[in-house]
Amino acid sequence: MYTLGVETSCDETSVAVLKNYKTLSNITISSLREHKKYGGVVPEIATRAHLKNIDKVTILALKESKIKIEEIDLIAVTHRPGLIGALVVGLNFAKAMSLSLAKPLIGVNHLHAHIFAPFLNCPQKIKFPFIGVIISGGHTEIYRVDDFDKISILGQTRDDACGEVFDKVAVSYGLGYPGGPAIDKLFDSKYKKDFKFRCGKIGLDLSFSGIKTALVYKKKELHKRKSLDAKTKKRILSSFQYTVFETIISAIVEATQKTGIKRVVCGGGVVANTYFRQRILDQNMQNLQCFLSPLEYAGDNAAIVAGLGFYLYNKKGIKSNLSLKVQSS
Ligand code: KG4
Ligand code: ZN
Repeated sequence: MYTLGVETSCDETSVAVLKNYKTLSNITISSLREHKKYGGVVPEIATRAHLKNIDKVTILALKESKIKIEEIDLIAVTHRPGLIGALVVGLNFAKAMSLSLAKPLIGVNHLHAHIFAPFLNCPQKIKFPFIGVIISGGHTEIYRVDDFDKISILGQTRDDACGEVFDKVAVSYGLGYPGGPAIDKLFDSKYKKDFKFRCGKIGLDLSFSGIKTALVYKKKELHKRKSLDAKTKKRILSSFQYTVFETIISAIVEATQKTGIKRVVCGGGVVANTYFRQRILDQNMQNLQCFLSPLEYAGDNAAIVAGLGFYLYNKKGIKSNLSLKVQSS
């Protein structure tokens, strides 16, 4: 069965074609560069970029897959969560495809698609239950996943998302947007304990706004004293990254202890982080079976949306109708 996936929740316009769980193509055009000078994603710019690019991306995805449009059996689309205008472009495009091809439509929650990423191209790994962990620019959530249509939330950030804090801290330290990859590159483990920062943790809920403010004040203070040299910046940001990930990892371990579930599946843009990936793989040695989104599927992309859409339709008989709406959360 061939599934066409469409993802436009934020600044990536992405279309993929899958044969069952196998990715035949996954084409993404990002409007990231257009947002850089604003230090974050501007919804109106993202929406216009989706409108401009969606036809082109679809044509490229079909071409690379060597599948004709008439051969598509299912249209899967992100309908939540995300920027409303951005989601509307993808959803309406997918509805038009479904209507004109007379093929079923399925709306997908793109957060759930992030934790489907490790199973793309290897569906034999799908086993329940597991602890699902989403760490992205807009979300930081820990789930109990009994199936992809049976997901309950165990913990989440009470304020800023992890990726958002990386982005804001990076802008404040002059590293530009997006901040995650820049801080990842700068990180040096020999400085990871040089500064004492803290994140909030209440049960399995997390809070990152305090550490963000602490970092911004630290920068202002050092700037005033003219002592924010490159090495100090590296030491501060290494300690910041270490503290954030160690807090998240302690919440993940606690979730496995509370539930007795030993399988952990992590997805979302921040899961591309080198230090986090190494630490999670260390956890594998402590009796946990951990699955990380492959790097190429960590950020927003349509292959994960198509994969989860196919799973829900094929295994669960779930589909949507043309009255499907977008949702910001
Ligand atoms: O999942 P995603 O592509 O988009 C959302 O749905 O939010 O995640 C984007 C986020 C950004 O905040 C970006 O800074 C962060 O992922 N990110 C990283 C890394 N690569 C991307 N954060 C830390 N380390 C990275 N290597
Ligand atoms: Zn995402």
